[in-house]
Amino acid sequence: MKLLITGGAGFVGSRLARSLLKNGSLNGQKIDKLVIADQYAPPEFLRNDARVESRTAPLLEQCANLHEDRFDGVFHLASAVSGECEDDFDLGMRSNLDTTRALLDALRKAGNSPRFVFSSSIAVFGPDPAHPIPDIVTDETLPTPQTSYGTHKLMCEHLISDYTRKGYIDGRSARLMTVTVRPGRPNGAASSFFSGIIREPLAGEVAICPVLDSVSHPVSSPSLTVQGLTAVFEATREEFLGRSGINLPALNVTVKEMLDALEAVAGSKVRSLVKFEFNERIANIVSNWPKGAASMRAHRLGLQPAKNFESIIREYIEDSKPA
Ligand SMILES: NC(=O)c1ccc[n+]([C@@H]2O[C@H](COP(=O)([O-])OP(=O)(O)OC[C@H]3O[C@@H](n4cnc5c(N)ncnc54)[C@H](O)[C@@H]3O)[C@@H](O)[C@H]2O)c1
Repeated sequence: MKLLITGGAGFVGSRLARSLLKNGSLNGQKIDKLVIADQYAPPEFLRNDARVESRTAPLLEQCANLHEDRFDGVFHLASAVSGECEDDFDLGMRSNLDTTRALLDALRKAGNSPRFVFSSSIAVFGPDPAHPIPDIVTDETLPTPQTSYGTHKLMCEHLISDYTRKGYIDGRSARLMTVTVRPGRPNGAASSFFSGIIREPLAGEVAICPVLDSVSHPVSSPSLTVQGLTAVFEATREEFLGRSGINLPALNVTVKEMLDALEAVAGSKVRSLVKFEFNERIANIVSNWPKGAASMRAHRLGLQPAKNFESIIREYIEDSKPA
């Protein structure tokens, strides 16, 4: 089979590509070719795989000829992140909405109705005066996004649902929880500290936590997120149930529980590198996010959240070791 991963050079996309190539098949079909479409080149371990073709350019440009490929399956992960969309409205509309429509139209033109998984986000949920957000958002909670990024994700979910209804694609939207621990440097997203308060102390550096330790948030690990996207791809339409987006499984944790786990894994000296400096701007943003999520439809697909936050930290430590 011939697969496309957009955003395949990124944090989740590169791990998804690695996992699919390692398995060698998806939904019982051998993977012959994997196209990675991203504005940046993917990591070397992917470029070196003979099954991988890397196409490096803005996805909107790539969509003009994409119908010629007739992909059997698509994971659409390319996206501008929340901070970028708030700072640059046009960039967000182009990268997230215009690009997704162009991609869907290319697949429609190809005419073979490929299976299509979209990485939506927990950011589709937010508090609206007419729809107060419950502490725990479920698959049934009305999404009322309060950011441009969340709005793009929800609009794309609806487009994917309608292209599916028309039979142009076989689409499924999976709402990712905050994926942690993200390697590298802080990325400017308001949620960045959820990784920073673990990653920096483990590297012997001080990390600033801008919110109270009572703040609760739904998170997942990179490997469980990849497992979730794969299971959503492999589900039959009956198993997926309907065309609306589903929540991937969440571990709902407080900052205190995250730091307790850090101490259990790495000791009290490492934990003491986390300093609390309250930042009202970030705290206000975070207060508009769900405190937790439930994922009944994902559970029906056999997906479960991480057992505890310690396991997520241990996965990060293992993943950071040189190959
Ligand atoms: N990481 C999380 O916590 C999280 C949470 C919820 C949803 N998501 C969603 O999951 C997906 C993957 O997230 P991630 O953390 O790997 O993000 P990431 O930023 O690490 O990767 C996204 C990739 O998309 C590429 N990209 C962005 N716009 C592009 C464009 N116009 N043309 C070509 N390439 C483009 C980037 O170069 C990058 O490599 C995204 O859709 C994101 O919105 C992530």
